[in-house]
Amino acid sequence: MAIEIRPVTPAETREYLRVLPYVNGLPQEEPEPSAWYAGHAAWPPQVPATEEMLDQYVEEAQSDWFRPQAAFVDGKIAGGSAIVSVQVTLPGGRQVPLGGVTSTAVLPTYRRRGLLRKIMTAMLDDCRQRGEFLAGLSASEGTIYGRYGFAPATFQHRWEVRRTDADFRAAFADPGSLELVDGSVAAGVWPVLHEQVRAVRVGEISPLPGKWDGLATGGLPPDGSGPAHHLVHRDPSGDVDGAALFRLPWSPDPEQVGVLQVEAFEALTLDAYRALWGLLLDFDLTKRVVAARRPVDEPLRWMLTNPRALKLTRTRDNLWLRILDVREALEARTYAASGSLILDVSDDLCGWNAGRWRLDASPEGATCSPAEESADISLSVNELGSLYLGGVRASELAHAGRIGEHRTGGVALLDALLRPDRAPHNAVGF
Ligand SMILES: CC(C)(COP(=O)(O)OP(=O)(O)OC[C@H]1O[C@@H](n2cnc3c(N)ncnc32)[C@H](O)[C@@H]1OP(=O)(O)O)[C@@H](O)C(=O)NCCC(=O)NCCS
Repeated sequence: MAIEIRPVTPAETREYLRVLPYVNGLPQEEPEPSAWYAGHAAWPPQVPATEEMLDQYVEEAQSDWFRPQAAFVDGKIAGGSAIVSVQVTLPGGRQVPLGGVTSTAVLPTYRRRGLLRKIMTAMLDDCRQRGEFLAGLSASEGTIYGRYGFAPATFQHRWEVRRTDADFRAAFADPGSLELVDGSVAAGVWPVLHEQVRAVRVGEISPLPGKWDGLATGGLPPDGSGPAHHLVHRDPSGDVDGAALFRLPWSPDPEQVGVLQVEAFEALTLDAYRALWGLLLDFDLTKRVVAARRPVDEPLRWMLTNPRALKLTRTRDNLWLRILDVREALEARTYAASGSLILDVSDDLCGWNAGRWRLDASPEGATCSPAEESADISLSVNELGSLYLGGVRASELAHAGRIGEHRTGGVALLDALLRPDRAPHNAVGF
């Protein structure tokens, strides 16, 4: 079997796409009712893509931000993956390039022969050559990507609130205003709002081109979840400072009728946040609100008279990070406190990361350089990936035996340096 790993040419894009589960009608996400996202049906659809859909995928895949790699076995594509060029926001506010791994699959008849490992190695090399010192992905299964140095760095919650339980602790007067708008207005609102959100939200990802284009045309999703409704909040001067996209699907199941599903929600101010949730939680003819892909530190819980009214129905990892250059990564962010640590990092795949690094960190930034001294902390690049945005505490990983402490107080100092203001979160993926 002759194996060649190389980028896919435009003429080969269709053949590459045919390898992917969602093109073959093989679902990789859980079906309803435990589905992670707000919708009702399995994603991707359980039928193979039509030629028309493939044409559309081919067009998208030929954009310059989509960089597919494939494993050719005896000249035919047996597996593939791709990197999309996006940006992620770091503590301190820098928005840095991230190589986003997506659309990964190996044909069932060629799996477990090392094809993904070869593809991944080629893609990570390519990222590094382009100056992307971080790679990321969202994982369909938790067992696949740790071996390549990826680890969970952001997390999401899905929750629900019964309308009858949704009493706010304190009444509030909204100085702004709410408005239901149509899809064409919403298509203009979301890109602007998201840019403002990601400027201040650690972990947030830049949208892929065309992300909100579909809102203007407002097509009905095939799963029966009904049309999208768009609610915007304006501040007293009329500027949009928050928005929500929700659906009110009909269902033959009485339990599912009267559910308001929130698919997207952003608020730049406390007023917008309270006003938007205030209406969504008390929408006439509904019984409960379900919101998916929400931050783990959702403030709403603390606004309700009964904090138990907000019930978590799902939690999962979202962005998995892979640090491709320890030095650049540690120097790119700022820290919650000042301090110095010697980190002994292990990394099987990206050997240049391995070894001892001296981190001199402060709220203004950091320097990171190779160290001669003995290590205060030892960890692998996986743990560093989980810690990097502040979504996982060093002490938690130390309690799990994943971080070694060689100087008393080393883990506590690492916790203090990396402490986030708010949990990192990305509402947009790739
Ligand atoms: C997941 C998938 C891409 C792996 O491709 P592959 O070519 O079989 O992977 P490799 O042979 O390079 O395997 C690399 C390692 O991962 C392990 N591995 C691969 N898939 C795994 C899985 N689903 N569960 C657990 N281990 C897995 C292999 O055993 C191997 O272990 P080793 O390094 O200790 O030897 C492929 O099985 C697939 O397409 N699955 C269905 C679609 C899918 O899940 N895509 C991922 C979307 S996020």
